[in-house]
Amino acid sequence: MIELSVNFFLKTIYMLIVANLLVKFVKWLIGYINKIRTVNKLKGLPMVPFLGNIHQLKTKHEFLKQIRDLSYKFKDEPVWRIWLGTMPNYVFHKGDYAEVLFSSAKNTQKSIQYNFLHPWLGTGLLTSYGDKWSTRRRLITPTFHFEILNDFLNVMNEQALIMTDILSDLVKNKEEINIFERLKACALDVICESAMGQNVNAQNDQSSDYVRAVARISELVTYRFYDPLEWSDFIYFKTQRGKDFKRCLKILHDFTTKVIMERDADLDDSDLKSKKRIAFLDLLLRAKREDQTITFDDIREEVDTFMFEGHDTTAAAASWACQLIGSHPEVQKKLHEEIDSVMGQSGRPLTNDDLKELKYLDLVIKETLRLFPSVPYFGRTFSEDCDVGGHKVLKGETAVIVAYMIHRDEKYYPDPERFDPDRFLPENSKDRHAYAYIPFSAGRRNCIGQRFAQMEEKVLLANILRYFEIKSMKTIDELKPVGDLILHPNDGIPIELKLRC
Ligand code: HEM
Repeated sequence: MIELSVNFFLKTIYMLIVANLLVKFVKWLIGYINKIRTVNKLKGLPMVPFLGNIHQLKTKHEFLKQIRDLSYKFKDEPVWRIWLGTMPNYVFHKGDYAEVLFSSAKNTQKSIQYNFLHPWLGTGLLTSYGDKWSTRRRLITPTFHFEILNDFLNVMNEQALIMTDILSDLVKNKEEINIFERLKACALDVICESAMGQNVNAQNDQSSDYVRAVARISELVTYRFYDPLEWSDFIYFKTQRGKDFKRCLKILHDFTTKVIMERDADLDDSDLKSKKRIAFLDLLLRAKREDQTITFDDIREEVDTFMFEGHDTTAAAASWACQLIGSHPEVQKKLHEEIDSVMGQSGRPLTNDDLKELKYLDLVIKETLRLFPSVPYFGRTFSEDCDVGGHKVLKGETAVIVAYMIHRDEKYYPDPERFDPDRFLPENSKDRHAYAYIPFSAGRRNCIGQRFAQMEEKVLLANILRYFEIKSMKTIDELKPVGDLILHPNDGIPIELKLRC
């Protein structure tokens, strides 16, 4: 009798659990069907329930092409859609309609794809949101003060000199030059020195574990973005790539932790007031001394974030600039004239005043970032329902902002694929929409390192131009631009350099 009633009790519990799950599933299904009805009012590829468009999406350089072709196809739409499984993604391809993202104090949360960066960057400035983000942003903003940036100008000049020496040797030895690799190593040295006060000597020694781990982990995160089979942590960390990810993670975190601890032990408050060269890290350590709630882990998150955001982005932008300059002789001629008039024959380092005078180089850099924004797309999660050009976009869903296409809007950039630095002359840009040009994003979540990056690009390019003439070896199509985390060439950018006498 007791056995019977226990059985009955267990069966009832089981039925209740099943009924509960069923109710939840039906509720979810009704929500999903409603979502499909609302979202599919937007244009997009035909979708398959539950799978969405995942089976139609291309990878590597084909993906960027696909996004470009679809954006052109839906060019009259304010926004279009891609389904990643059951998750709709609203694709923003026109600056005119990006207001809801950039002007809003609310839609500042990043999309779930950024979670793949969490094991490495934690919830540092790039990946956090809400109160944590605003506190951090307030803390870090002063570290980009122009007086502090002046200090980093010395680092940039020194590393640019090492790079031009290496390039001269390659020219003398008639070796092939992949300018993307050279600039990547140089930018890594600049950011290591500026962020951590460490010289990893990436330009001369590519075998450093840290240098290799930075490159490999960026690659692994990209693979994860594209492959739904790698999305679950549970499965991912059992795969070969997941294990490799963990291996790199350990190298990176061990390195930054060691540097932070050593730097903290050595840091004397008078260092910060003296002429001794400081790093971002020192400023964060000082903030920690004034505010006990900041932990070493908090500092590591930010240092790792700077390392990630602060080198590939600049290197990619400067490399695309070399490619474009090397295939537009009339632009190169003007650049050479400008650099010669500012620097003459002197081999001295560039000063801030020199940089201000390199006005045409400024236009070239801007136009390069229009055609090749280093971060070709970035994501947000809507924190409220919004209206975009008469379409309802839903709270909790993802926005993908495609800077690469926003920069190709014919309304603001006639003949958009043409490289024309004069588009950025003041008289030609005065009527442009505020969000038609967003290489550094816009609004509250814009790039905090923007001025650092612009300064670095100018120093690196000015140094190449003052000593060399650049000739591009391939066309853009042959280089196959890939829109991963960073917009980079599929297989480097080969160029020919000729020493200027
Ligand atoms: C040409 C070079 C660069 C470009 C094109 C660029 C572009 C961007 C973009 C588009 C974002 C927004 C990303 C998003 O919303 O997901 C961003 C954010 C950020 N960038 Fe940059 N970046 C560059 C260089 C740098 C450098 C040199 C640093 C550091 C020294 C840096 C640090 C950051 C940080 C910390 C954020 C997050 C800011 C926040 O959310 O408050 N970036 N960058």
